[in-house]
Amino acid sequence: MSAPLLQIDDLSVTYWDRSLLGLRANGFEAVKRATLTVDAGQTLGLVGESGSGKSSIANALLGLVPPSGGTINFDGQDLATLRKGFPPEIRQKIQAVFQDPYSSLNPSMTVEEIVTEPLKVHTRMTRVERHEKAVELLKLVKLPETHLHRYPNEFSGGQRQRIAIATALALQPSLIVLDEPVSALDVSTQNQIINLLYERRDALGISYLLIAHDLALVHHISDRIAVMYLGHIVEEGPADRVYHQPAHPYTQALLEAVPLLDPARQRARRAERRGRVTTDMPRLSEKGCPFSGRCPHVMDRCTARMPPAFTVPDGGTARCFLLDDEPNEQGRSKD
Ligand SMILES: Nc1ncnc2c1ncn2[C@@H]1O[C@H](COP(=O)(O)OP(=O)(O)OP(=O)(O)O)[C@@H](O)[C@H]1O
Ligand SMILES: [Mg+2]
Repeated sequence: MSAPLLQIDDLSVTYWDRSLLGLRANGFEAVKRATLTVDAGQTLGLVGESGSGKSSIANALLGLVPPSGGTINFDGQDLATLRKGFPPEIRQKIQAVFQDPYSSLNPSMTVEEIVTEPLKVHTRMTRVERHEKAVELLKLVKLPETHLHRYPNEFSGGQRQRIAIATALALQPSLIVLDEPVSALDVSTQNQIINLLYERRDALGISYLLIAHDLALVHHISDRIAVMYLGHIVEEGPADRVYHQPAHPYTQALLEAVPLLDPARQRARRAERRGRVTTDMPRLSEKGCPFSGRCPHVMDRCTARMPPAFTVPDGGTARCFLLDDEPNEQGRSKD
């Protein structure tokens, strides 16, 4: 088997307050020894509630925040050690699309200027060649060529996100980090953008790291899904397995938050949940499982130490002692 395109191991991201003297004080570890893999041409969906650390992983991968530990192996290089910025060839190969299509595009530039900006910076293409590429890029995102001379404020959120995707595609990246790319859009536009991403990925052989809150949406396009909770990757595995047979109680709770289209099923689920799921604030125990304060299955040992990554029978891993079939044994973990 060939090496994965991206292999993140034990990645930590810590944000520091500064004391009056400018020294580091009070570190907050937003990502705690996260391990993730993205294979070439595949999509890894990364889900979890607000503040769980998803964007911190994305930003470490984009060189926007320095990791405080771990490795980020991409294309034969450890990006975690590059403290002075990424070399141009890495910046070409990893592109990003962010949530807010209103602030991510420069309002004073035409669409042609926006989508050809990366070509100006990273290639020696002539103006004519760049124009031809701009026409091609707009076709890729299904916008008419006539839009090239217009400005971002003349477009809807969905159209702007298409422009952002076209810009991300300009340098033929091998990985696009999509940080909540459709969260600001209405549902039907979300579907169009997700379908577009899907088509482009398969046609161009790109990999995606797709960050979102909505597990149903992520499942639609991902090959694998990783679930984050308070800085930890608590579950990871094939998208179908994680979505249909979630192993971690947190993933199960996330799925229960997805609205069901069938009202009878919705009512049945509410009745079942009543009195079962606790809505307490998470207990921030340093030692134990971060979900133990909210978990309906909590056991003594869950508060004593962080569960290791147990293998899930149908694929992937979950950090939950429920998967430990030998309760008194310490081992069987991956770490
Ligand atoms: N620059 C920063 N300085 C200090 N703390 C930060 C910084 N950026 C993020 N954090 C904190 O780190 C934690 C993780 O934030 P992050 O943005 O990675 O979460 P997220 O999963 O992307 O959330 P959301 O779904 O809301 O985008 C949060 O508690 C956040 O407040
Ligand atoms: Mg975020």
